[in-house]
Amino acid sequence: MNKSLRKAVIAGNWKMNKTPAETTELINSIKPLVKDADCDVVVCVPYVDLFAALDAVKGSDIKVGAENCHWANSGAFTGEISADMLKAIGVPYVIIGHSERRQYFGETDNTVHDRVRAALDAGLTIILCVGERLEERESNITMEIIGAQVKIALAGVSAEELSNIIIAYEPVWAIGTGRTATADQAEEVNGKIRELIASLYSQEDADKTVVQYGGSMNAKNAAELLSKPDVDGGLIGGASLKAPDFAAIVEAASK
Ligand code: PGA
Repeated sequence: MNKSLRKAVIAGNWKMNKTPAETTELINSIKPLVKDADCDVVVCVPYVDLFAALDAVKGSDIKVGAENCHWANSGAFTGEISADMLKAIGVPYVIIGHSERRQYFGETDNTVHDRVRAALDAGLTIILCVGERLEERESNITMEIIGAQVKIALAGVSAEELSNIIIAYEPVWAIGTGRTATADQAEEVNGKIRELIASLYSQEDADKTVVQYGGSMNAKNAAELLSKPDVDGGLIGGASLKAPDFAAIVEAASK
């Protein structure tokens, strides 16, 4: 209903793919294809590819993001990267709470909350991932799970800070499986996330919040998903690694 209040955001999540040289090549292929985009375009890349990505996007409106950040500014956390470090090299976006982090790396709602806090303090824009597992959907507790994930992540976040947070609804059963949520399923949950934001903040804040869908979104199904009033863009894994596919999704979001 209030989609005109929000600009769609199409973000690629490259996961653990591409070397720096391949990053330059892929971004150079994407650039001309998305130059007329009427949505925000972000590519979230592995840490070692950030410099190459920041360099490659020069002269375009494409923004660069990291795929995670730690909750502390600095310290004895071997192998980790802080939000301040990302900020210092000029990275504007960061994904937090991706289901693969939750599933394989012990990420919890509480550590997601702490990372959100650190990223906000560093001045980054966050793509906050939430989503239910298949058995949770089948037990009819999808919104209980997502409600808890959203509430814990946003605890203590002000309305002003909320404008730096994009929420990505990513049903875990749809990620990398080729099994996309139907447009109606995506719309139902995205709409409920917006209602939750309205109850935690205000309707005005909820109307301004970008809520993406992610999970096997591709060049073929993007237009239908993005036609839904509460689906404000997408977080794209597999299809973001192919320039023409990613560009087709950007084009679908620009209509
Ligand atoms: P997918 O990944 O598009 O490959 O399903 C989406 C994501 O994990 O963000």
